Formats: sequence, structure tokens, C-alpha cells
Amino acid sequence: MTTRDKYTDVPAPFSWEVPSAGDARFTWEYDEGRARLLSLYQKGKDKQWDAQLRVDWTQDVDPMNPIGLPDEFHPLFGSPMWDSADEAHRAQMRQHFQGWQFSQFLHGEQGAMVCAAKIVEVVPDLDAKFYAATQTMDEARHVEAFSRFLQEKVGLVYPINKHLTSLLEDTLHDSRWDMPYLGMQVLIEGLALAAFGVLRDMAAPGSLAKQVLAYVMQDEARHVAFGRISLKDYYSQLTEAERGEREEFVVDACYLMRDRFRGEEVFETLDMDVEACSEWVNTSPLMIQFRSHLFSRIVPIVKDIGLWGDKVQTAFRDMGVHDMGGFDIESMMKADEDQAEELDKAHAEMAERALEVDQVIAAGAS
Ligand SMILES: [Fe+2]
Ligand SMILES: [Fe+2]
Repeated sequence: MTTRDKYTDVPAPFSWEVPSAGDARFTWEYDEGRARLLSLYQKGKDKQWDAQLRVDWTQDVDPMNPIGLPDEFHPLFGSPMWDSADEAHRAQMRQHFQGWQFSQFLHGEQGAMVCAAKIVEVVPDLDAKFYAATQTMDEARHVEAFSRFLQEKVGLVYPINKHLTSLLEDTLHDSRWDMPYLGMQVLIEGLALAAFGVLRDMAAPGSLAKQVLAYVMQDEARHVAFGRISLKDYYSQLTEAERGEREEFVVDACYLMRDRFRGEEVFETLDMDVEACSEWVNTSPLMIQFRSHLFSRIVPIVKDIGLWGDKVQTAFRDMGVHDMGGFDIESMMKADEDQAEELDKAHAEMAERALEVDQVIAAGAS
């Protein structure tokens, strides 16, 4: 069995080589680390988990609605395309849209793993290299979890979206060491985190998708903290012109990402009227709201790390997300971590109860 059999459209070539720039940096200073980064590194080590064990993979998943979402949240819900579709076609739309979304998470996670490994290589200080090494492992686990969910439970995989491809390319091409942080940790992961959050909160309680998303989000809360600590220090030392370049990158990337979650590939694959579907998705109030919500993690972080010049603020105003600069990112991250812990607690209680039932049955039998 190979992933090749699961692709809706087999990518050719079947691999992707991205020319990457930036020097590999060594340091001979092994002692002086920033306390906040070192404690984050410690936390990264303490909170490692095994995707094969922590997630209950024995659970049944309906491949036609793998996340278990209500129809009201389907991007085409209420459209003429949705209303005229029979149940079999609607089921297909559910499966493909959710499969497409998780596929982008999967490829994005591989991008995150590659970027985290690149940060290990190019970042000057040992404390950041240490932390990025734990993150590389976290991202490997995320790839593992999304891949298993898609292949085993959904049964299909979509190729990487072209906007995600070009964003990853820009991020990796750049020789400045802070760019993988900014492109990956702040922008791509920030966007993904907001999307994970929506799906985690809407997924059926106790479902497999909810577990995968909650556990991945627990790790991502640390990754965001890493980006914030490292970039805040660094950006405060840059010249106005240097900061301006980063702000330009943020603006371009944010406009690009607004186009990432349209899912045209799904309409093409299902032989639907791509233009009519795209038009619906572009103008549906629910989708407009969803797209602006995707910036709820990015905007406060961009502000926090000091990339809050005119260009960025104007773009965020234009996108209608400027007010998100006031969101309390710290408490959002804390809530993500708590949700994962609560799921663990609920599972432990359920396992305990199952054991008690087994014991009672055994006692009755003897
Ligand atoms: Fe990740
Ligand atoms: Fe991450």
C-alpha cells in the first residue's frame, strides 16, 4: 500500500526539491541560554507524546463525514449546488472537503517539520537550536497523526495547494535566519492553528478528529511561544528598513493565505461548476467570517513581535482583521493546552470505568 493510491490526483513529480539558502551556524557557547527559551525547551521535552498511543485509533470514523461536522458549516451549504445535490453527492462533498482540508494540514505539517529542522541549522544560538530540535520531533508526530487519519479513516489525500506551495517556497528560499520563523511559525502555523481550533470545537465530542486536533494544538501553543520569544528580541534590534522588509513579507503572505482556503481543487475533482462554487465560497457570509477568523492568531502575534508599521496595519484594516491585534494570545494558548489535558482526563476516566465494568462482569461470572 502506498499513499500514491490515495491521492485524488497523483502529484507528478512525486517529490519536491526546494533550493534552500542560509548558512549552517555553529556556536561554541554551551552555557548561556535565555531562561524563557530553556524552560520552553524543558516543557517541549516533558510534553512529548506518542501519536500511536495517545490517540484512540480503534474508533470508527464515517469516511463520508470524517470530522463529524454539521452541514451548516459546509462551504457550499445553502448554495444552489448544495440544494440540488442528492444525498450521495452531498456525502461526497463532505468527504472531499474535509479530506482536502486535512490534506493541507498534512502537507503544512511536513513543511513545519522541514522549517523547524532548518531553524536548528541556521539559528545562531544554542537555546533556540535546542528548542527547534524538540519542535522538529513534534512536527514529525503531527505528520504521522494527520497522515494516519487521512489514509486509514478518510481514504483519500489531496495534493498540496498551490498557494501553500509558494508560501513555503518563499519561506525556505530566504537566506535570513528569521524567515523560517516568520513564514512558518507565525504565519502558516498561525493560520493553521485558527483553522484547527474551529474544527476541534465543532467536531463531535470524543471523536477521533477532535483528539488529533486537540493534541496537535497543545504542541502548537509552544511553537507559537517559541516564534514570539525569538522574533520579539531580534526585531527590536533591526533598522526601520529591515523591519519594513519583514512587514512587506507579512502583508504579501496574508493576502496569499486569504486565498488558501477556497478549495477549488475539490470542485474540480468532483466535476462541479468551479466558477459558480468559487463565487459562492467568496461571497457567502459564513465563509467570509471563517476567513477573517483565520487571522485571529496571526494578528496579535504580528503586533506582539513588533511588525506593526503602517503597511501591516493598513493591510489588516483592509482585510477587516485589525481589531484582532487586541486579542489576548497568552490566554488563547493556555486554553488550547487545557483542552488537551481535559481530553486526557476524560479518557482516563472512561478507561477506569470500562475496567470496573469488566471486573463486575468477571466477578458475576465466577
Ligand atoms: Fe505542527
Ligand atoms: Fe508547529
